[in-house]
Amino acid sequence: MRDLAGRTAVITGAGSGLGLEMARRAHVLGMRLVLADVEPGPLGRIVDEIRAAGGAALGQVVDVADDGQVERLADRAFGETGDVGLLVNNAGVGGGGYVWETSEKEWRWVLGVNVMGVVHGLRHFVPRMLEAEARGTGSHVVNTASIAGWLATPMLGVYNASKHAVVALTETLFHDLRVAGSSIGVSLLSPAFVPTGIARSDRNRPADLADAAPPTRSQARAQAAVERAVAGGKIGAADVARMTFEAVLEGRFYVFTHPQILESVQARHEAALSGGPPADPYGQRPDRRPNAARQEGPD
Ligand SMILES: NC(=O)c1ccc[n+]([C@@H]2O[C@H](COP(=O)([O-])OP(=O)(O)OC[C@H]3O[C@@H](n4cnc5c(N)ncnc54)[C@H](O)[C@@H]3O)[C@@H](O)[C@H]2O)c1
Repeated sequence: MRDLAGRTAVITGAGSGLGLEMARRAHVLGMRLVLADVEPGPLGRIVDEIRAAGGAALGQVVDVADDGQVERLADRAFGETGDVGLLVNNAGVGGGGYVWETSEKEWRWVLGVNVMGVVHGLRHFVPRMLEAEARGTGSHVVNTASIAGWLATPMLGVYNASKHAVVALTETLFHDLRVAGSSIGVSLLSPAFVPTGIARSDRNRPADLADAAPPTRSQARAQAAVERAVAGGKIGAADVARMTFEAVLEGRFYVFTHPQILESVQARHEAALSGGPPADPYGQRPDRRPNAARQEGPD
């Protein structure tokens, strides 16, 4: 996509963090906005901000885990703007603790938002983007994964599994589009820790997927480690938004916001090829280990 001005960007999770900054960036680049989030208050504030700055923005409260709600988002985006130049499947939530202590409800919540949210976005937007392409109008899809889609760090099993799925889905989307003869662009955003609201994801956990039991020790440790790492992130959400739009404009697939971590990804692949045990995912950042700050042993 060489020129985004005048096109419509649909961004999920636009009320906070990366999605919020992507909305601001899209506006600066002259795009019209269709913004979605499950939290009405923050969503309303970014819609008002864009409008006050002279931009065009619609907001729709959407739970991306709900297929019907994402379908209605697509109906509205295509119906009211007649065009979707960019779809950003960005909404996501975090969860942690030992994999065997992660409740069935937590699995359903995190996979529902992080994986099925992206699946619903692809199912309801890409066919209409393909129709637009047949009429001569190109478009681009960005999926927000994470470096957790490339490294399996301890105590983040549900999040790692969800983001590995987004990496696989997005690479498959790229290949499927080429097999289908489409030139729709695809980018896979894989950030490491960035200061946003992600460590407070529980604020959006539906009541029917809440756990009755208090957090286990491993869950509390994972939560504390994520809070520390996210708060200590040196690259801001606005930087990530800028990198993402550069990739969209250049038609680049992979967006790694912290490329130094790729050394750990390479070590993982080398360990697999060598037949040894998995490489230490914290090889580059031992200070990020869940028990790094305290001299704690295993639970
Ligand atoms: N911040 C990081 O360190 C980091 C690192 C790697 C990947 N990510 C990914 O970036 C994406 C954005 O997260 P963020 O860091 O900006 O966090 P954030 O909490 O600041 O923003 C996430 C937004 O998604 C919304 N949301 C949550 N559940 C939703 C649902 N079911 N339907 C619709 N919207 C929903 C939230 O209300 C919030 O506005 C996520 O996919 C996250 O996994 C973040």
